[in-house]
Amino acid sequence: MNWAIETQNLRRVFRGGTVRRLWRRKSAQNGNGETVALDAVDLQVKPGELFGLLGPNGAGKTTLLKILSTLLLPTSGTATVDGIDVAKDPERVRKRINMVSGGEHSGFGILTVRETIWMFAQFYGVPGRVVRERADRMMDILGLTEFAETKVSKLSTGTRQKMNIIRGFVSAPRILYLDEPTLGLDVAVAREVRSFVRAWVDEHPERSIILTTHYMAEADSLCDRVAIIDRGRVRACDTPANLKRDWAPECVYRIEIPLWTQGGHPLDDLDVVRSADVEHHGDRGRTNLRVILENGDGIGAVTERLSQRGVAALSVSRLEPTLEDAFLNLVGHGLAASEEKGR
Ligand SMILES: Nc1ncnc2c1ncn2[C@@H]1O[C@H](COP(=O)(O)OP(=O)(O)OP(=O)(O)O)[C@@H](O)[C@H]1O
Ligand SMILES: [Mg+2]
Repeated sequence: MNWAIETQNLRRVFRGGTVRRLWRRKSAQNGNGETVALDAVDLQVKPGELFGLLGPNGAGKTTLLKILSTLLLPTSGTATVDGIDVAKDPERVRKRINMVSGGEHSGFGILTVRETIWMFAQFYGVPGRVVRERADRMMDILGLTEFAETKVSKLSTGTRQKMNIIRGFVSAPRILYLDEPTLGLDVAVAREVRSFVRAWVDEHPERSIILTTHYMAEADSLCDRVAIIDRGRVRACDTPANLKRDWAPECVYRIEIPLWTQGGHPLDDLDVVRSADVEHHGDRGRTNLRVILENGDGIGAVTERLSQRGVAALSVSRLEPTLEDAFLNLVGHGLAASEEKGR
């Protein structure tokens, strides 16, 4: 079987330049002012898979998608798409792929939605009749039919992004890259886009999608497998369920107590508490603690400490681990935290 995507020891280094200085993380730079965007990346994506790339800003996700779509060359290592080497035979790769990025302004404002979709389909040599059929069907599913003759410059962000999505799918690529496809979309539009994407993969088991996202719940509900990338390296790659099982701390509790006004929280000197988030709700006279414990036995010590301090536990519930818990455990920080540490 050909993998839809396979990378072996893939590395990409950016040298010098002032481009994107603001984005560049100290962590990714070596002593020569080079940025190692991807480092020894080994990934395999199966045909029929909806595969997610999760990682903090600057992790290397877009760089990876650009290499897989032949917009950038690897510095070393190999990447194949449908068995074809992206560096050796980019033309053949391009016939099999398409890419849509969130927040992009593709096309020309003076063209209508239908004209824009038609124009991009021409780049891929899709016959006019087929374009019309596909575009009509997809516009119908995404609720875009009423905008078919509207000029692109008049579209809202959400409607324009739906058009971009259709532009990506209209060439019926074997492999589609979606770089933050739901960026900036409202909840309802994001949901429509997600269900469209999922249905497309389910209807065509020989096709694959790789998407990047910063929305953990999106990756969890949508993707068959997820690779968590940080500073150019794959930290873990598995189904969302397995990532949660293996990497999310198992013992997360939500404890509601009367409003805590003494600063910090009442469990701050307890060994079994690995970390606690505190949320005050002055209007309701409540404080919510989200507590991560070293292990399940620790909850006894927690309730004991609360009663020692005369704090009533109004409710205690155990939370299911989320992909975000797994992510934070693996990556260990957000962007700001890593910048502070100067890593
Ligand atoms: N053209 C470029 N020139 C120099 N450095 C670059 C260039 N493109 C990306 N980089 C650097 O490579 C690293 C990876 O960037 P990339 O855009 O792939 O990250 P990302 O995971 O897509 O981040 P985000 O979540 O912010 O989109 C970053 O340190 C970035 O600054
Ligand atoms: Mg990116």
